[in-house]
Amino acid sequence: MNSGLVQKIENLKKEKNAVILAHYYVKDEVQEIADYIGDSYYLAKTAKNVEADTIVFCGVSFMCESAKILNPDKTVLTPDPDADCPMAHMVPEGRIEEMRARYDDLAVVCYVNSDIELKCKSDVCVTSSNAVKIVKALPNKNIFFIPDENLGRYVAEQAPEKNVILNDGFCPRHKAITARQVCDEKQKHPDALVLAHPECTKDVLALADYIGSTAGIIAYAKQSDEKEFIVCTEHGVSYRLRKDNPDKAFYFGEPCPICVNMKKNTLEKILEVLETGKNAVEVDEETRLKALKPLDRMLELAK
Ligand code: 13P
Ligand code: SF4
Repeated sequence: MNSGLVQKIENLKKEKNAVILAHYYVKDEVQEIADYIGDSYYLAKTAKNVEADTIVFCGVSFMCESAKILNPDKTVLTPDPDADCPMAHMVPEGRIEEMRARYDDLAVVCYVNSDIELKCKSDVCVTSSNAVKIVKALPNKNIFFIPDENLGRYVAEQAPEKNVILNDGFCPRHKAITARQVCDEKQKHPDALVLAHPECTKDVLALADYIGSTAGIIAYAKQSDEKEFIVCTEHGVSYRLRKDNPDKAFYFGEPCPICVNMKKNTLEKILEVLETGKNAVEVDEETRLKALKPLDRMLELAK
């Protein structure tokens, strides 16, 4: 770790009354200097309640955007505006309108991994840690779940009383984890439990001993008496897993799942945005208010 760089960041944080929020998938050295680290749900809640003047958000674009929507008086700085989640745009133009025309009683449920236009057209947002709870709590029978097909299918299985219509969006990183890879790891480590993120395919989820968000996986591994785990999600979670459980082993399979977008957050870019104030997230007020509704509804229903 570059201690000179870290010291400069710490000084600027104090000077600018700034805090660093980071997702579990960012580089170890960024998690090391972050004030708040968590999954998407925790980060959205934290962004809404932060009192500092400036939030440096180390994640991907939809997370930075959500922070600005939820807490518009703060300056939200993104270390790299090109750190985008491809899944966030995977709903074909006109599809939501088509579904609304087909069903009177439709709730459009939008995974937070979505761009602001999709949120504006949705009834409620969810994250992987609260999607089942929120879908179950909705009065609607018909649910159009966007953009992630795998999370949508998992929710549909957990809420069989609902008619969940799926959209074919996906996370390229989680989709690339195959059941074959998990079985290979199982052969090498027969006693290991399989912990999987619900963005994984149904074949991978069928092999899982536990399915949950990044925070869920981290909490599960910590409380478990088992010593070995095959982890089916992005490799960044290993930082916290190793820290919390020095006596346990975590295997990520081959090839190791890396989200290139999350890794675009570097110490150098954090320093640069703190020094210059560049890459401030801007959202026009009319759009913000539209996108705020489903996000606020999520925070309310997830309580
Ligand atoms: P979590 O909500 O579990 O942190 O997941 C976010 C994400 O981008 C998963 O790929
Ligand atoms: Fe998007 Fe997948 Fe990266 Fe998560 S891991 S931010 S879903 S590309």
